[in-house]
Amino acid sequence: MSSFRTLDDIEQVSGKVALVRVDLNLPMNGGQVTDRTRINASAPTILELADAGAKVLLLAHFGRPKGQRSSTQSLSMVVDAVQDVLGREIMFVPEVAGDVVAQSVGILRDGDVAILENTRFWPGEEANDAEFAAAIAANGDFYVNDAFSAAHRAHASTEAITHCLPSFAGRAMQKELEALDRALGNPEKPVAAVVGGAKVSSKLAVLEHLVGIVDHLIIGGGMANTFLAARGVDVGKSLCEHELKPTVEAIMEAADRSGCTVHLPYDVVVATEFAANPASLRTCNVHEVAAEEIILDIGPQATEALGDVLKTCRTLVWNGPLGAFETEPFDAATVSLAKTAAALTREGSLVSVAGGGDTVAALNHAGAGDDFTYVSTAGGAFLGWMEGRELPGVAALTP
Ligand code: 3PG
Repeated sequence: MSSFRTLDDIEQVSGKVALVRVDLNLPMNGGQVTDRTRINASAPTILELADAGAKVLLLAHFGRPKGQRSSTQSLSMVVDAVQDVLGREIMFVPEVAGDVVAQSVGILRDGDVAILENTRFWPGEEANDAEFAAAIAANGDFYVNDAFSAAHRAHASTEAITHCLPSFAGRAMQKELEALDRALGNPEKPVAAVVGGAKVSSKLAVLEHLVGIVDHLIIGGGMANTFLAARGVDVGKSLCEHELKPTVEAIMEAADRSGCTVHLPYDVVVATEFAANPASLRTCNVHEVAAEEIILDIGPQATEALGDVLKTCRTLVWNGPLGAFETEPFDAATVSLAKTAAALTREGSLVSVAGGGDTVAALNHAGAGDDFTYVSTAGGAFLGWMEGRELPGVAALTP
C-alpha cells in the first residue's frame, strides 16, 4: 500500500479551518435519512478535528444533479441526521466557495461544524476543475478526505483540491485502506474471493484481476450461470450472458495459468418462476436443469463444499450474493456461506472483507456483517479496488 498521511500528521489543528470530504450520499425516503451508516463512519474524524479546536467544514455530494442547483438534492436535508449523530448543533451553508462561506467561517467558533452545499451543484466538481477547487480551498487551511466511497471519482472535492491544500486521510478512510490492504494488497494466503451478482459483464475487470491474485475464486449469482453455460451446461431460462462465452473461456484459462481454482456450483436450486417459495421449487444437479427452469441459488452440496474451501483459507474478499437472496428460500447459500465466514473470522482463522451495497444487505440479512473483519459500504469504489485500479481520491492523498 502506498503511504498516505493521516490526522496524526497534521501539525496544527486548533484554530484552523478543516475542509473535510465526507460521503453524505445517504438513502432518503420522504425527505428523511433512512440509513446513517455513512454519517456514523465519518463521525470520529469530524469529532476528533472539532474537539481538537478546528472549525470543520463538511464537503459532500448528494445524487447526480449534473452541475445545477436542485431543491430536492440540497444537503440541507441531511443536517438533522448529521446533528443527531454528532450530538451537536451544526450550521448549513448554501454555498461551497466564495464570500458566503468566508462569512460563515467568521461566525463559527473553534470546534464548530458546518455542512456546505452539495458540491455537484457546480459543474466544476465533476470536471475536476482546478479553479473551482482553488475557490473551495481558499476558505480552508487543510483538507481531509474521509469518503473512500467517493474516491473512485476524480472530482474537484476529491482530487483537484489536494493540489491546493495539505491533504490527509480521515479515520474512516484510513481504516478502510488498511483493511483493504490486508485483504488484497498484502494478504495472508490462501486467499478466496466470492464474486456474485447478476451479470459477468458488470464485473469483468474484477474477475480478470482476481484470477491473477487469489487462490480460490467462488462464482455465484447469475454470473455462475454464464460460466456454466460457457462450459456447455444447459441453464434453461436462467439469467445468462451467452454471448460472453469467449470472455469466460479466457478468464478460465488465465485462472489455470496462475493456479487459481474457479469454483462453480454442481448442484443448484431451481424453479419455473421467480417468486417466494414457489410450488415448482427443487434442487438438482446442474446437468439436470429443465428447459423451463430458472437457477435461483447455489445448491446445499456445493454450498457445503464452499464452506470447506473457506476453512482452508486465511483471507476472504466478498462482493455480491450467491443467489437471489432477497426472496426466500433463495437466500440459503448466501446465508450459509456468510455464517461460515463469520464463524471462521470469530475463531481468528480468517480475515474477511466484504463490500458493495447488495453484499452489505446480504451479510446483514445473514446476521453475519458484524463478525466480518471489515465491511465496506462503498459501491463503485469497492469494485474499483477489487479491479486493482488506482482510485484517484486515494492516489491524491499519497505525498
Ligand atoms: C456512492 O453512493 O456510492 C458514492 O457516494 C458515489 O456516488 P456516485 O456513484 O454518484 O459518484
